[in-house]
Amino acid sequence: MKEWTREEKYRRLQDPSEIEELHKRISRSPYRQVFHVQPVTGLLNDPNGFIFHNGVWHLFYQWCPWGAVHGMKHWYHVTSRDLVDWKNEGVAVRPDRDYDNYGAYSGSAYPTDGKVYLYYTGNHRDPDWKRSSYTNLVKLNDDGTIEKYEEPLFGPHPDYSEHQRDPKILRFENPKKYVILLGAQTKKQKGRILVYTSEHHNRGWSFSGELKVPGFENFGGMWECPSIEHIGDMDVLLFCPQHLFLSGHGEGTNHNGYILGHMNWDTLTFTPEGSFHVFDFGFDSYAAECATIVGEKDKAVLTAWMGLPDASYPVTDEEEWSGCLTLPRELRIRNRRLIQTPLPQLEKLRTEEVDPQLQKLPDACELDITFGPGSHQLNLFTDEQGRGGLQISYRGILQEILIDRSAMKNRFNQEFGELRSRPLPNGLQRLRIFIDRSSVEIFVNDGDAVFSSSIFPTEKEHYFRVDKTEAFRIWKLRSAVGDDFVV
Ligand code: FRU
Repeated sequence: MKEWTREEKYRRLQDPSEIEELHKRISRSPYRQVFHVQPVTGLLNDPNGFIFHNGVWHLFYQWCPWGAVHGMKHWYHVTSRDLVDWKNEGVAVRPDRDYDNYGAYSGSAYPTDGKVYLYYTGNHRDPDWKRSSYTNLVKLNDDGTIEKYEEPLFGPHPDYSEHQRDPKILRFENPKKYVILLGAQTKKQKGRILVYTSEHHNRGWSFSGELKVPGFENFGGMWECPSIEHIGDMDVLLFCPQHLFLSGHGEGTNHNGYILGHMNWDTLTFTPEGSFHVFDFGFDSYAAECATIVGEKDKAVLTAWMGLPDASYPVTDEEEWSGCLTLPRELRIRNRRLIQTPLPQLEKLRTEEVDPQLQKLPDACELDITFGPGSHQLNLFTDEQGRGGLQISYRGILQEILIDRSAMKNRFNQEFGELRSRPLPNGLQRLRIFIDRSSVEIFVNDGDAVFSSSIFPTEKEHYFRVDKTEAFRIWKLRSAVGDDFVV
């Protein structure tokens, strides 16, 4: 695997020609996705600034152009009219000032006056490699031109550690004010959220205090990518606690989840109703970003990075690219849990229906399987004889669904565990599975769980084996994300 020097990782992209060859090379990879947003070159991590504006969905991703390495981060911009077909728009935020000299880190977007404002963290490092974070603003005009504010909105808070980042902008009426939530860490390494307030979206910001979340004062060492959304009659606190072991979620210490509750903006207290739940039970999901649907109070849309911090994906890392975003999902609250289901418009991706008797998996496909009562087992990506693959099983006696990727030829991140599970007290009735060339997303029943994972099947691993089902349908899915070289 390539060893990167600091200079190589932290180069600023000056001209598209610097990565044109790389793009040509990786676009020939058999693992390039066909209906997922993926990096034009290099590495993709968090989704950023997901909003609907003037009839268009805007989404950005953390992007290091040079290869599969967390180096100099830019914001790359993609758009869609329907959350199904996506178009590459080019770089939106470049790290080209002293306050972001080591990267334009994650943040959020707010549309006003016919423009989209992008709030992001400038990752600044001094010559001694000491980090300070600045909250910065970029204006994206409707003609695609970009104006960067010369001065940061505010700098690092002196009472917290160097880990302060990922501004989430929120707007309130009565009284009219703007709030920025910032992920942070105390000097004693406890995860926190800082709250900044202003009467204007682009100036006058001041620190209002720490968000209080009773019962969660000792919950992980840093909280990344925070947000508070209102869905139905509940508030939802979304964040990524780090340095935390959660039982049933493997050996990894980076998690992405939420707490339902009620937010009091006067006292800056989020009162939880229930515990912390992860969004996704699969192997690779982080930094989820929620977008509001205009006119819908009970639903939102969620996408996430199909990857994890501190993980590596050797097959595509070798090819010098890494990561993709999950399919955007519809998000609702049911029985005090957030549930995720595939967007109805994804049916537009279906082309021909394939006979399941062939037991062969097209590169990009959707499976819809209905099960009767009892235990079940499905192995995806087996060889032609039905051996190996990704095992999905439901054991009636345990009332639990298990996903095991240890029998795949390409194994990776084994140290985080190769088995994931989720209790299913009401049994397994239905699986909807979306397979792209290097990912699998498994939706269980009508929103009981979703498992998202990267997967790198070899040429021989394109079959499946299943015991008894009540119904089994497979559709080939068409390409929906242009791999155009727009930088
Ligand atoms: C989460 C994260 C954010 C940061 C960004 C940098 O994956 O570490 O906290 O802003 O990635 O790319």
